[in-house]
Amino acid sequence: MADLEPTVAILGATGRVGREMLAILEERGFPCGRLRALASGRSAGQSLTFRATQVTVEDVEGADLSGIQIALFSAGGSVSRRWAPRFVEAGALVVDNSSAWRMDPQVPLVVPEVNPDALLLGRKGPGGLLAPPGIVANPNCSTIQLVVVLAALARWGLRRVIVSTYQSVSGAGERGVREYRAQRDGLSSSSDVMGRVVHENVVPWIGPLGDQGYTEEEMKMVRESRKILGLPGLRLCCTAVRVPVVSAHCESVNVQLARDASQQDLRSCLGSLQGVRLLDDPHRRVFPTPRDAAGGDDILVGRLRPDPSAPNTWNMWVVADNVRKGAALNAVQIAELLLSGE
Ligand SMILES: NC(=O)c1ccc[n+]([C@@H]2O[C@H](COP(=O)([O-])OP(=O)(O)OC[C@H]3O[C@@H](n4cnc5c(N)ncnc54)[C@H](OP(=O)(O)O)[C@@H]3O)[C@@H](O)[C@H]2O)c1
Repeated sequence: MADLEPTVAILGATGRVGREMLAILEERGFPCGRLRALASGRSAGQSLTFRATQVTVEDVEGADLSGIQIALFSAGGSVSRRWAPRFVEAGALVVDNSSAWRMDPQVPLVVPEVNPDALLLGRKGPGGLLAPPGIVANPNCSTIQLVVVLAALARWGLRRVIVSTYQSVSGAGERGVREYRAQRDGLSSSSDVMGRVVHENVVPWIGPLGDQGYTEEEMKMVRESRKILGLPGLRLCCTAVRVPVVSAHCESVNVQLARDASQQDLRSCLGSLQGVRLLDDPHRRVFPTPRDAAGGDDILVGRLRPDPSAPNTWNMWVVADNVRKGAALNAVQIAELLLSGE
């Protein structure tokens, strides 16, 4: 690239994911000549801290988009659909956290530990960066933690996968967390954001209705996993559930493999994966919970055990911080790959 260190923009910088992106860019020492924080007119003028300096939030409407090389988007689907082409037109590469572009066949949908080569779908541009379409999509939070595990198990062949998620309220953004806390503190019983009261409840419904009685959140996991794993016929079904937890999503995963594997084979495989930590000792009651995953980068796996009701079938429990590995960290890892030109 022309400059030694790129100008990086975050669109949605004041949101739950955007703030985490800012923190992760700093933690990982991401090369960044200038950081620009963008959001709506509602928060324009606010100040955010990056590397001990104050960055003033700009209203994306009317912002000068020239000179931005990498743009991390976390402002929702409609904002992405409207602004991603404009940022690309102005010369930026966009890493988008919304669902707007994920299933576009021209747009790579990437989890760096699983399918970094998908970034090569586009032509290489100057400096090794991707040329048009110029947009890379970040998968849904619950899909990311699942596919890292499934990609590793795929060496034995994936015959069928059944997932039940236990998703935290931060998956519904800052407004979801505020709504939950107001319910918990007895200040409100409104459920405008999450559809039902989540406090002291378990709600088997996330997002709009999709096909055949499944929610869109459930269908996203099916479609996105197939695309990322390059397995268009993968047999996978999901029940997505909202639980009264602020950070980290859990998944009960039942996987039928095509070929025989021992428990030790699976433990060694999962235990050696980059970004995965096995927390699994039933005799000492060691297993991961949201409290273990919140604020961390790893995908935690435990409760690995055979399913006696079907051959070559295994149960496991997979937990990760939805705002970090499920969103902001994965996006920054993609940006790192783009910068490295790999
Ligand atoms: N939370 C998760 O676990 C998670 C995981 C994966 C993906 N995602 C995706 O990431 C995106 C952001 O999620 P979030 O949880 O961070 O939501 P959030 O906390 O509600 O933040 C939304 C951000 O978008 C900005 N925004 C909203 N409307 C805008 C507009 N018209 N123009 C410019 N900026 C606008 C907001 O700015 P203002 O301050 O100006 O309102 C805010 O910065 C969503 O697409 C979500 O689906 C979230």
